[in-house]
Amino acid sequence: SGEQHIMPPKHDFKHEPPSQFDDIDQLGKAEAREQVERLREAIDYHDHRYYVENSPEISDAAYDRLFRRLEELEEAYPDLRSPTSPTRRVGAEPLDELARVEHAATMLSLKAVLDEQEIEDFDQFVKQQTGDEPRYVLEPKFDGVSIEVIYESGRFHRGATRGDGGTGEDISENLKTIGSLPLRLREPDSAPEFLAVRGEVYIGKDAFQQMNQQRIEQNEEPYANPRNAAAGILRRLESREVARWPLDVVFYDVLKASGGARETHQEELELFQKWGLKITEHLKRTSSLRSIKRFHGKLEEDRDKLPSEIDGIVIKVDDRERREQLGTRDRSPRWALAWKFAPRKEVTTLQRIIVQVGRTGILTPVALLQPVDVGGVTVSRATLHN
Ligand code: IVH
Repeated sequence: SGEQHIMPPKHDFKHEPPSQFDDIDQLGKAEAREQVERLREAIDYHDHRYYVENSPEISDAAYDRLFRRLEELEEAYPDLRSPTSPTRRVGAEPLDELARVEHAATMLSLKAVLDEQEIEDFDQFVKQQTGDEPRYVLEPKFDGVSIEVIYESGRFHRGATRGDGGTGEDISENLKTIGSLPLRLREPDSAPEFLAVRGEVYIGKDAFQQMNQQRIEQNEEPYANPRNAAAGILRRLESREVARWPLDVVFYDVLKASGGARETHQEELELFQKWGLKITEHLKRTSSLRSIKRFHGKLEEDRDKLPSEIDGIVIKVDDRERREQLGTRDRSPRWALAWKFAPRKEVTTLQRIIVQVGRTGILTPVALLQPVDVGGVTVSRATLHN
């Protein structure tokens, strides 16, 4: 007596990905459904480890086995397919055009300044308007493409370009190819039912150089800088082509959330992190002008060593209530400011000066230069009209 029926232990796909799977025919429907869910969870987890945390836990081969198994199950059981399955990151059927969509809230732009004096004026203004010692959050200003992403019940619903701020273009299938962009939020129970976030898509400097090299070899016009490259790729109609390029994303604002906003920006960014939305690692909370200047100086100094382009810092009032108080003006919030870096300078050799004849007969001297890379832009001519 007493022979116990022992269920085979459930394989831990996340931490011990199997080297072999049972035949699909041997699985019942319920088992298949359960396995599909566990595979998706494992793959989402490893995508996050790889793309967001930069610390992969399993080999590429082990990851590929999980991915292939999921593909096979979805192939065998079409009704288990899902638009937020990791298998949808490889791109979809080409589109005829990008649909226009309305944003959950207006996507404002930032007022940009170059001088330190204007930072002091901004700080004065904030103090005077709020009657308070303001607390700021400092972030890099990413030189990429601004996007809106909407999550519903913790699942990716849609993503769009900024467009005119009110409406943009639906680039959902292209965004889904970005490994660091979660298709399902982590700890979704803590996420609002409706969540519209704003972030920046960019391509790293190395990938950009590689991409341009390839374009030149194929007799295509190279992109002028990483931002143009990211914008060009993101608006393509063939998401399978988009999937070939290592785009990345960073999130920095809540556009709209059901259940209302959090008290501070800092809190929101902490929640982003918890939900698996990548945030910048260069973040500082401060009240002092001096540390704003230090932050700006340090990032400007490190700029060329960073893996992707930034062109300044963004100073944001941390407190949501203060933000409300400050309001917006000319489609820019009065609670934030972009402090740009000085334009880049490079040294090159003047090869010749030619005189260009304009359409109306105006003569302009033009310098022909030894081509030089200025922050991702190749410069080989400069007009000398001034
Ligand atoms: S906050 C208006 N934070 O800079 C408040 N924007 O016009 C929402 N940008 O296209 C924007 N880095 O996409 C914010 N850390 C950052 C940013 C950032 C880059 C972009 C933004 C916009 C442009 C300013």
